Amino acid sequence: MNKYLLAPSLLSCDFANLESEITMLNNSLADWLHLDIMDGVFVPNITFGQPIVKQIKKYSQKPLDVHLMIVEPDRYFDDFKQCGADILTVHYETCTHLNRSITKIKELGMKAGVVLNPHTSVDLLENIIEYCDMILIMSVNPGFGGQKFISNSLFKIAKLRDMIDRRSSKCLIEVDGGVSLDNYRQILDAGADVLVAGNAIFATDNSLQTIERFKTELI
Ligand code: DX5
Ligand code: ZN
Repeated sequence: MNKYLLAPSLLSCDFANLESEITMLNNSLADWLHLDIMDGVFVPNITFGQPIVKQIKKYSQKPLDVHLMIVEPDRYFDDFKQCGADILTVHYETCTHLNRSITKIKELGMKAGVVLNPHTSVDLLENIIEYCDMILIMSVNPGFGGQKFISNSLFKIAKLRDMIDRRSSKCLIEVDGGVSLDNYRQILDAGADVLVAGNAIFATDNSLQTIERFKTELI
């Protein structure tokens, strides 16, 4: 069985029934919960912030993977630690002093990751990768769920896999955007370790069964 991790994105869940969605995820084969924080400035959409993350933490039995799509993310690292984030990822495009940002996240006791927009080259990670626990490759332009996977992302994942393996690094590769039961094998074959899926899970009739399919059909 493939050992990859699955992180359902709550962006597409039923927010009116958040507690039952989290209970479903607790009972599922999902590994992490992926939380998308959007500010309406860095991305053209607004989602939720610290109070909601805090509530999710209260019920979740799984690690919270918090994806910050906000400008000046460093201002909120302490807050998200307090709210229960286990993994905090920041966009390369939002951090002027990326090494400082990554160091601060780790000092606060969280795992630290860097996110790349679809147009941002993995070559730019050369001087930061050794400090990262994870790199998140965006396979759609961030801001919305339910978009189409950008196929060029597969080349980026493969190139990053090579960079990480050449360093014998344990840095994980996460992929976010347009991941589905139709394309996840290809994405894993390219070298991904963690898959985020929103619509592909929550827009189905039975999310629990869909998660099971994601985790068990790859044998
Ligand atoms: C998009 C978010 C994603 C989103 C993925 O900006 O970062 O996490 O929820 O949704 P799907 O899987 O529907 O593309
Ligand atoms: Zn995300």
